[in-house]
Amino acid sequence: MAETMKGMKRTHYCGVLRPCDEGKEVIVCGWVQRQRDLGQLIFIDLRDRTGIVQLAFDDNTDRSIFEKAFSIRAEYVLAARGIVRERSSKNFEIPTGEIEIEVKELRILAKAETPPFEITENSNVKEDTRLKYRYLDLRRPDLQRNLMLRHRVAKIAHDYFDRNGFLEIETPNLIRSTPEGARDYLVPSRVFPGTFFALPQSPQLYKQLLMLSGFDRYMQIARCFRDEDLRADRQPEFTQIDFEMSFVDQDDVMAIGEGFIHEVYQSMGIDVPIPLPRMTWDEAMARYGSDKPDLRFGMELCDLSGVLSNTEFRVFAGALAGGGSVRGINLKGLAEQLSRKEIDKLAEWIKAYGAKGLAWTRLAEKETSSYEKFLTPEENAAIREKMGAQPGDVLFLVASDENGVVFASLGALRCELARRFDLIDKSHPRLLWVTDFPQFEYSKEEGRFMAMHHPFTAPRDEDVDKLLTDPGHVYAKAYDMVANGYELGGGSIRINDPEVQEKMFEALGFTKEQAQERFGFLIDAFKYGAPPHGGMAWGFDRIIMVLLDTDNIRDVIAFPKVASSAELMSGAPGEVDEKQLAELGIALAKEQE
Ligand code: AMO
Repeated sequence: MAETMKGMKRTHYCGVLRPCDEGKEVIVCGWVQRQRDLGQLIFIDLRDRTGIVQLAFDDNTDRSIFEKAFSIRAEYVLAARGIVRERSSKNFEIPTGEIEIEVKELRILAKAETPPFEITENSNVKEDTRLKYRYLDLRRPDLQRNLMLRHRVAKIAHDYFDRNGFLEIETPNLIRSTPEGARDYLVPSRVFPGTFFALPQSPQLYKQLLMLSGFDRYMQIARCFRDEDLRADRQPEFTQIDFEMSFVDQDDVMAIGEGFIHEVYQSMGIDVPIPLPRMTWDEAMARYGSDKPDLRFGMELCDLSGVLSNTEFRVFAGALAGGGSVRGINLKGLAEQLSRKEIDKLAEWIKAYGAKGLAWTRLAEKETSSYEKFLTPEENAAIREKMGAQPGDVLFLVASDENGVVFASLGALRCELARRFDLIDKSHPRLLWVTDFPQFEYSKEEGRFMAMHHPFTAPRDEDVDKLLTDPGHVYAKAYDMVANGYELGGGSIRINDPEVQEKMFEALGFTKEQAQERFGFLIDAFKYGAPPHGGMAWGFDRIIMVLLDTDNIRDVIAFPKVASSAELMSGAPGEVDEKQLAELGIALAKEQE
């Protein structure tokens, strides 16, 4: 039978002991990292969330304790009482490496089977295996550190917003499904068969209602659920640091937002100067092909539409005639490092972003180009000049009748090349605001304009009149905070004038009845006096990812889901029994049974 903690109380965490503790009697608890049996000597590395300490057993150790130490295997759970002493051979690689504990009492609190993988820092075990045994994976020091940082940032958020007069108020997780945005997760109602709750994609509507109720300043660390295709920086259930405030305009919200992120970085000893730089959405797209530009490297986009305005080359002329553009980026000085074959691979790769092809000029020892033969010498010279081309450069051009495709492709290529050739300056983080987002984006699929943020985002004052006449040129009081190429967070000033809101729904193609049916409670609420208000939300997980410089969101979540949205450890989602389904009035369609 395992021993207990009876009469024993931990005095210290393993990782905190130092030479100044020499001579002290201590009690430490934890898991066995490894046991080394040197015959007359046994060493056990004991691990807890603070680190590792060495337990020592030698000639002076009571025989029964020595034998117990002999029987110990990795991941056994121990409590040890002993005296801290100087080590004879010191290990300066670890913080406790100058001392060890001469053990006087040892208890085996739990035995352990051999784990399916060794618990080590930066494990290279397959991620699926680690996720299946996540409770073991989480014993690894790097994951423990990640989650400790997460805790600290949550604490900073609570303190920062409290200090600035924000109230933490919880909003419901079982809500009504409202369209727009990502796909909802649905929860069937037992009491009202055939009806469903939705899990919130964000607390958006509720935080706005709290402003209407006069709470003035709200914050919440809120769980959000979105049934969307997963990427490396997305999870179906994720967490937001969310806030909303009344009687403000855009600059007030942004000041609160950047104040928080400044404190977060400050807590890590990094000074992020505020106010953060700002860039309009139009400028971000034109220069970086992205609304979340990574400013840690150059390689900006260059618009070649002007110098090609009279071109007879069908591909470029067609793009321009169709209302699109031809743009390029210049990979400086790396022509010899990028072979023709690799360029061809990139041309295939870029198709995922909608580009039909990738035109290129490789200014290597021997100049080669995929398009120069189709252009006039003047056009080629003008392109080279505009792109600042020099020997050794590689020019990449994308043409499309959809500017969105040109931006997406070149924006992605820019990042891919920077990664591949290590062009990213990681010495300090680069944060900025991207502002003045277009209010709408046109959806070919839906055949209508869709809200780029959400339907409650206020248009810029000067654009309100264009809502119905020229929706394609309406810009919003919306802003995103971007760090190192990641969208950390975003928000907007909201519409508080029911007349403008009505226009907005009309611009989105909803009839009055449809708007009432979908957002009725909010529309009604706004009839009773809504203060001007706005706010934003950060992806909490994203903040931690950027702080840790990891590109895997699963590294910062205790129990994450994999790309298929499954949770490998518990096996969720799982089947439920007939009785549960019957209670909900649900019958499964034949092919799923
Ligand atoms: P938005 O939809 O932009 O805004 O979300 C805010 C931030 O949440 C993070 N995020 C995600 N993180 C992980 N996995 C996901 N699937 C995921 N989706 C979004 C991003 C994003 O910037 N209610 C508005 C905010 C507001 O207007 O106040 C909202 O939810 O970092």
